[in-house]
Amino acid sequence: MGALSQLRTLYHLTLSPIRGETHQQRLDSFYGGQAEDYDEFRKRMLHGREALFDALPAPAGGAWVDIGAGTARNGELFGERLREFGSVTFLDLSRSLLKVADERIAREQWANARTLCADATEIDLPDGSADLVTFTYSLTMIPDWFAAIEQAHRLLRPGGVIGVVDFYVSRRYPADGLRRHSYFARNFWPFWFGNDNVHPSADHLPMLQRRFQTLQVDEHYGKLPWVPVVRAPYYRFIGRKPAA
Ligand SMILES: C[S@@+](CC[C@H](N)C(=O)[O-])C[C@H]1O[C@@H](n2cnc3c(N)ncnc32)[C@H](O)[C@@H]1O
Repeated sequence: MGALSQLRTLYHLTLSPIRGETHQQRLDSFYGGQAEDYDEFRKRMLHGREALFDALPAPAGGAWVDIGAGTARNGELFGERLREFGSVTFLDLSRSLLKVADERIAREQWANARTLCADATEIDLPDGSADLVTFTYSLTMIPDWFAAIEQAHRLLRPGGVIGVVDFYVSRRYPADGLRRHSYFARNFWPFWFGNDNVHPSADHLPMLQRRFQTLQVDEHYGKLPWVPVVRAPYYRFIGRKPAA
């Protein structure tokens, strides 16, 4: 990635003010100036997406909805398996990122894929119409994230799979088997990311575990570009909607 592109992206991440009356306007104010450089910069920042897609099923003829899909880069992470789905929907509220997604769909000739400009909290797709729903680093950007999780639950057919990877912080007293982050980490990361309207939470993972049967959870730390020493915590969750 060129130095100029990196500086432009850094400017939007750190200095450029986010403006707008609505959530959608704020998203486009944030992403409008960095949409073209988005993928290259985020590769070094949004860890764990490759491992998530390696572990997710791609049922032949099934329906996959990627919520907060941005530029549709996740499509590439499925590789040739993407073509096995009956339908793929890259849903996002940012028109500037969806423009890049449309270009990618055309370039890759994904005949089964489309973009959908919609709010993750009010998705106009039928109940039980998805076999797989994913959120990669999008729950932390959705203010009503609990409504987005409810939408994912509604969209999935019984037995359908949900895959999530995102930044988070632990609870002070996490459930058995989950990590406990330091006082510093639990306070620093929400403050740091909050500037970009990204909100790592202690509640996303417990809510996912409440709504879905856990198939896999793992917790990690990842390096951020231009940030020395500290590592940002992220988790991966794979769950199943229980059969009715
Ligand atoms: C950090 S980006 C991640 C994009 C992509 N999933 C990836 O892994 O590269 C977060 C995405 O969530 C989208 N988003 C935020 N709020 C949303 C909402 N209410 N409905 C739909 N998408 C939303 C943003 O527009 C952005 O594309």
